[in-house]
Formats: sequence, C-alpha cells, structure tokens
Amino acid sequence: MHEIRCFASGGISAIFREHRPPVRESAQFHRQRGSLRYRVRASADRRSEGEPSRPATAAVPAQEVSAERTLAVEIDRIRFAWMSDQRDVLDIARFEVAAGERVFIEGPSGSGKSTLFSLLGGVSRPREGTVRILGTGISEMSARRRDRFRADHVGFVFQMFNLVPYLSMVDNVTLPCRFSRRRRERAGSRSGAPEAEACRLLARLGLDGDELLARAVTDLSIGQQQRVAVARALIGEPELIIADEPTSALDEGTRERFLELLSAQCDEAGASLLFASHDTRLGAVFDRRVSLGELNRTGSVPVA
Ligand SMILES: Nc1ncnc2c1ncn2[C@@H]1O[C@H](COP(=O)(O)OP(=O)(O)OP(=O)(O)O)[C@@H](O)[C@H]1O
Ligand SMILES: [Mg+2]
Repeated sequence: MHEIRCFASGGISAIFREHRPPVRESAQFHRQRGSLRYRVRASADRRSEGEPSRPATAAVPAQEVSAERTLAVEIDRIRFAWMSDQRDVLDIARFEVAAGERVFIEGPSGSGKSTLFSLLGGVSRPREGTVRILGTGISEMSARRRDRFRADHVGFVFQMFNLVPYLSMVDNVTLPCRFSRRRRERAGSRSGAPEAEACRLLARLGLDGDELLARAVTDLSIGQQQRVAVARALIGEPELIIADEPTSALDEGTRERFLELLSAQCDEAGASLLFASHDTRLGAVFDRRVSLGELNRTGSVPVA
C-alpha cells in the first residue's frame, strides 16, 4: 500500500505496505443519551423516527475498526506541540463529529486548523489525550498502522491540491487506490475498475470529455484542479473527508459551486466532512460551525 502524505508541512512521501481485504458493512444512526451515535448493522435500510436523514456508509476492515462504533471523529483531552520544548498549539477537551455530519471549522491563519487535521489524519500524534476515528484510537497506533488507517479511511483535499504534475487527471484520481487495497476494491466494485470510477467521479464534478481528460493537470484551471483533488479524496469511499482551505484560490461563484459539489458528493458517499477555512462567509452547506478559537484552550495567537 502506498500513501501520499502532503499535510501541514507540505511534504510528500510514499509508504508501501500490505493489508488484508475489507469487510463490507453498513451503518445505521440512532440517538443515544442526547448525542448522535450509530451502530454497524447488516443493513442500512431500516431507520427509526428522529434519526438523521442522511445515510452513513461505514464499511471498514474488521481488523481496524470495532464492530460497534459511535462517532466518525472523537477527540478527548488532547494537547499537542510541534516541538517538545514549545508551548502547546492545541489543547482541546472534547470534540465530536457524527458519522455523515458536515462540520465547518473556522479560525484565523495560525490558529491550528491544519495542525488539528494532521492529528485527525494520524500524521501527528498528541502528546496527551486520544484521537478516535470511526471508533478506532489512532493516537495509540504505531506510525505504520496510522498510515494504513489513513490511506483506507480518510480522503484529504489540500489548499494547494497537491496534484502530481507528471500524472494524468485519471491517474491523479486513482492514486489512493494504488496505496489502499480497500479503496481500490471499493472503487472497482462500484464502477468495474478504479479508472472507470475516476471517470465517473470526474464527470459528476463536471470534468468529462476526451480533450479535457487528456490534458496535463498542470494545464487545468485552478477550479478544475480543485475538482480533480476532490475526486481523488472521494475515490474508494473513505468515511472521512478532510478539506483544508481548498477554496482560498477561488472566486466567489466558483467557491459556492465547489462547496455545493463537495457537500453533495460527501452526502452521496455517506462520508463525514470536515472543512477548514478562515473565511467565515462560508459555512451555509454545513450542519455545524465550530470556532477553533473557542474549542482550543491554548488561545493560540495567530501568526500574521
Ligand atoms: N510543521 C510544523 N512545525 C512547527 N510548527 C508548525 C508546523 N506547522 C504549523 N506550525 C505552527 O503551528 C501553529 C498552527 O499552525 P497551522 O498551520 O495549524 O494553522 P492554520 O490555522 O492551519 O493556519 P492557515 O490558515 O494559515 O493555514 C502556527 O503557529 C504554526 O507556525
Ligand atoms: Mg492551514
């Protein structure tokens, strides 16, 4: 399995590993003690009254995720500093995201949005506390298992998209399938082959036609590159999509359309969406807005 790692530091490296084939499961929401919770069930069809209307897909490998889970994201009393001798960048008592929920994280530049995402993706580990994704404590995992878990379950969209310039549009989209057998198999079972699934996703995002698909990714507009990056995050149906300021380079009209597309695609896949931006005008398509300044007890001073 390979994983492209392009996180807060912007670096890219590849990791090669093997893992077992997936177990297909589906999920059902239910409310329990006032918070959104869901159980893995054999069927996602039955819903009781009062449950959220959007479905949650929760297919996960049995070796990584427990049979009963509660939340897509669960943070408990974490503290994180980039250097052991420096003050904490993040100090968060509790943060939860329900499966299928779309959450907008707002905070000024330097407030720790990308740092938070590096913890949720298992790129970094908190110095204290736990990070659970899909019910699995990733902060206790080895780096190797975190890499594997991220490749299988998390789709990232980055501010600068991080497309690989020497790969075609389709090859950029299918990249996660080369790194995760689970995502490769899910893409294949949906469309016959990862390449066909890449074309389906690109078409859903308004990118189709032989002329366009043949173009080098470097010859695409910013908005087009962004949609390629979204298709790459969505392929193989990861349960969690993390989008780190992917709209900052877009004009207002394109930004709105992009957000609607991203949200609709996450809905269709039953994925949870965490979207960060310092642009507080965004947020209409989300279920919830969270201010990192209020969540983070360090009172992190933005670096201007
Ligand atoms: N790889 C790193 N090594 C050391 N310090 C870092 C690293 N990445 C971020 N920081 C520091 O952590 C703090 C939070 O940075 P972070 O990138 O998480 O903020 P942000 O909210 O994502 O900002 P922006 O909106 O500009 O992307 C800043 O003080 C930053 O300098
Ligand atoms: Mg950032």
